[in-house]
Amino acid sequence: MRIFSGIQPTGRKHLGNYIGAIAQYISSQERGEGIFCIVDLHAITVAYDPAELRERLYDTTAILLAAGLDPERCILFRQSDVPEHTELTWLLCSVTELGRLQRMHQFRDKSIAQRELVSAGLLLYPVLQAADVLAYRADEVPVGEDQREHLELMRDVARRFNTRFGGGEEVLVVPEHRIPSVGARIMDLQDPARKMSTTGGSAQGTVYVLDEPREIEKKLKSAVTDSGSEVRSAPDKQGISNLIEILAAVRGVERTVIESEFSDARYGDFKAAVAAAVVAYLAPARERYEELRADDAALESILQQGALRAGAIASSTLLDVRTRMGVGPLDAASAPSTSGAADTVNG
Ligand code: AMP
Ligand code: TRP
Repeated sequence: MRIFSGIQPTGRKHLGNYIGAIAQYISSQERGEGIFCIVDLHAITVAYDPAELRERLYDTTAILLAAGLDPERCILFRQSDVPEHTELTWLLCSVTELGRLQRMHQFRDKSIAQRELVSAGLLLYPVLQAADVLAYRADEVPVGEDQREHLELMRDVARRFNTRFGGGEEVLVVPEHRIPSVGARIMDLQDPARKMSTTGGSAQGTVYVLDEPREIEKKLKSAVTDSGSEVRSAPDKQGISNLIEILAAVRGVERTVIESEFSDARYGDFKAAVAAAVVAYLAPARERYEELRADDAALESILQQGALRAGAIASSTLLDVRTRMGVGPLDAASAPSTSGAADTVNG
C-alpha cells in the first residue's frame, strides 16, 4: 500500500492541519509506504514573498519531523526538487476539462481573495495536485475534508488518462482519499461556522501547533459556545460540536463517548478538559520543534535524500506516461537523460 500526501509550506500549521492531516501521516507509516511532499510550487499560485517561502518550507519540514515523521520509514521531500511533478502537470492538462477547473470551490474562493492578480497557476493548482499523487501511483491520500473536491478531480483525470492512453490498463492508479471520520474539518473557535485556517480564520480562534500551553488554554477557554448548557453535538450548537469533535479526535474515540462522559458537566469544565487534552496532545511536537528547526543543513539533507528516492519512482512513471502519450522517442528508456531529480540534487 502506497500512501501519498502533500502539505503547503505557508503560514503556521494549526490544530486543524494536525488533526485532519498530520496525525494521519504519522499513523500511515505503520500501514504502508508513506510519501510526503511539501508543496512549494502550490504556494506560488497566490501572492507570496520568496525569502519567506524558503523559511516557511523549513518550518513545515521541522513540524512534520517533530510530529513524528521518520525519514527512515517514509519519504519526505520538497515538490520543486522533483521536476517530474511539473512535467506531468502539463501532460495531464490534455486530459483535464477546463470548465471543471473553473468551477472548483478553492479556485473561486482564492480568486476572490487575490487583490492584484488571479494567476493561471491558481487555475491549474488541482492539476499539479493530481500530478503529485499520480506520479507515485499512490493508492491512498490522507487529507482533510476541504480536499475532497481535489481528490475527485484527480480520480477523474487518472480515469480519463487510462481510457484515452492506457489501452484498457490502469497505467495511472486511481487513488482513494482517506478523510478521517472524526476531525476532518475543525472549525474556528471564535467563528465555528468557518473552518480553522491560517488565512481565513481569526487569530484567537486558531490554535497553532507551536502555541505556548498558556496560549492554547486561553484560546480554548474563550471558545464561542451557545446559550444552552448541554455538552451535545447539534446543528444549532456549532461551537460545542466543534469542541466535542476536537476532544474526540485528540483522544481517538467517537463523539458519543465524549458526550456521555460530559453529560453532566458544565461548559466551563468541559472547555477546561478540552484545553488540557489539546495542550498534552501538541506538547511533544512543540518540544521537539526548536532543536530540529535550528539546523537548516540537517533539514536540507533530509529533503534532498527524500527527493532522490521520490525522483526514482516519479521518473519511472513519467517514462511510461510519455511513451503512452506518444511524446518523445519510442525507446525512451535508452535515450540519454538530461533531467531528473538525481542530477539536480547531486549537481
Ligand atoms: P494545507 O496547510 O492547506 O496544505 O493543509 C494541509 C492539510 O490539512 C490538508 O490535508 C487539509 O485538508 C488539512 N486541513 C486544513 N484545514 C483543516 C481543518 N480546519 N480541519 C481539518 N483538516 C484541515
Ligand atoms: N492542496 C493541498 C492542501 O491545500 C495540498 C496538496 C498538494 C496535496 N498536493 C497534494 C494534498 C497531493 C494531497 C495530495 O492542503
